[in-house]
Amino acid sequence: MRAIGLMSGTSLDGVDGVLADLEPDAAGGRIRFSLLQTVHRPYPPELTSALLALQSRGEVGLEAIADLEGALAEVYAAAVSEWCRPGVDTPAAFIACHGQTVWHRPPRGKRPGRSLQWVNAAELAERTHTAVVSDFRAADLAAGGHGAPLVPLADHHLFGDAAESRCVQNIGGIANVTFLPAGADADGIQAFDTGPGTMLIDAAVRRVGPPGASCDRDGEMALRGRVDPALLADLLRHPFLRRRPPRSTGRDTFGDALLDQVLADWRGTAADLLATLTEFTAASIAGAYRRFLPVPDRVLVGGGGARNPALLAALTRRLHPIPVAPTDAWGVPAESREALAFAILGLCSLLGRPGNVPRATGARRAAVLGRFTPRPTG
Ligand SMILES: Nc1ncnc2c1ncn2[C@@H]1O[C@H](COP(=O)(O)OP(=O)(O)O)[C@@H](O)[C@H]1O
Ligand SMILES: [Mg+2]
Repeated sequence: MRAIGLMSGTSLDGVDGVLADLEPDAAGGRIRFSLLQTVHRPYPPELTSALLALQSRGEVGLEAIADLEGALAEVYAAAVSEWCRPGVDTPAAFIACHGQTVWHRPPRGKRPGRSLQWVNAAELAERTHTAVVSDFRAADLAAGGHGAPLVPLADHHLFGDAAESRCVQNIGGIANVTFLPAGADADGIQAFDTGPGTMLIDAAVRRVGPPGASCDRDGEMALRGRVDPALLADLLRHPFLRRRPPRSTGRDTFGDALLDQVLADWRGTAADLLATLTEFTAASIAGAYRRFLPVPDRVLVGGGGARNPALLAALTRRLHPIPVAPTDAWGVPAESREALAFAILGLCSLLGRPGNVPRATGARRAAVLGRFTPRPTG
């Protein structure tokens, strides 16, 4: 079945998409994939600014919400327009679209978790003439889960191995890990958010980096700077890092508010700040493995953070001697891994198969995920 997967994460940089052929096996078997094409489309700067402002102020008019949902559908449709033109030989059967997370609150005690992923799915379906599966997190939240992380089951299909145990580490705005035991045993999967991904790094670059820069391109600033041990030690005392899984986090915890606290006392150079935040990000990931997981045979890194050499070097150093490498060598470009994962979750939805791993999200049970918007006819 030909599928399109679309992912736009918490870093608000844009949308990553994949066109892939997926081959479902008998129930319980592995889904096979053949990745045909990938696409990245940055958000227009006004859209990123609007989403950032919305999340820092937390207030927005109803009309603005409706317009943002439409604007997101427009960007997503533009990203895949080449694959959805009339007359393409094998049209995609569906688009699995994660949407843009604008709010995420994990469940706490009796208070249920809530999470909002925006996209006007009907408009996306209309613009692409393709059925859409969206709103993947709601069913897991309704079953008492965090609604995150949702990629573990897809990671099992994509990266599970008979002989070695693997951690698949995503480094997007937020970082999350999937531990896949050797033997590709789906029941042994563990997964949780490790903490910040590129979020603190990006936020710092927006404040103290070159004008207009939105990330530490190729780790250039961090590689020039030196880690400040006092700030690093202070950051490593963050309470989230000690919280037991299941756990999830977001921009409210590792975004501008935390950076404001750091900057209030910071007297060093911009490069040293970037070096320290990059080291902290790597240390939070390695620390989470030590605290909560068996030692894996190998670590595969996906997400845009895999393209930051300073971050990858720090992670490799801290996990030594475990080999660490981007997912590219396993046929999945690092930046496309989550989009491909959602294509697989979309297929699970259409097959009526559960997509969450209850042990990872904390849900009471396995749930079929997603909301279906049919292909417009006529
Ligand atoms: N060449 C690069 N150098 C440094 N960082 C990069 C590079 N390419 C991507 N990134 C980082 O990856 C992030 C986007 O990763 P992504 O996986 O799309 O995250 P999300 O899913 O949260 O949107 C950017 O914000 C940036 O920090
Ligand atoms: Mg992104």
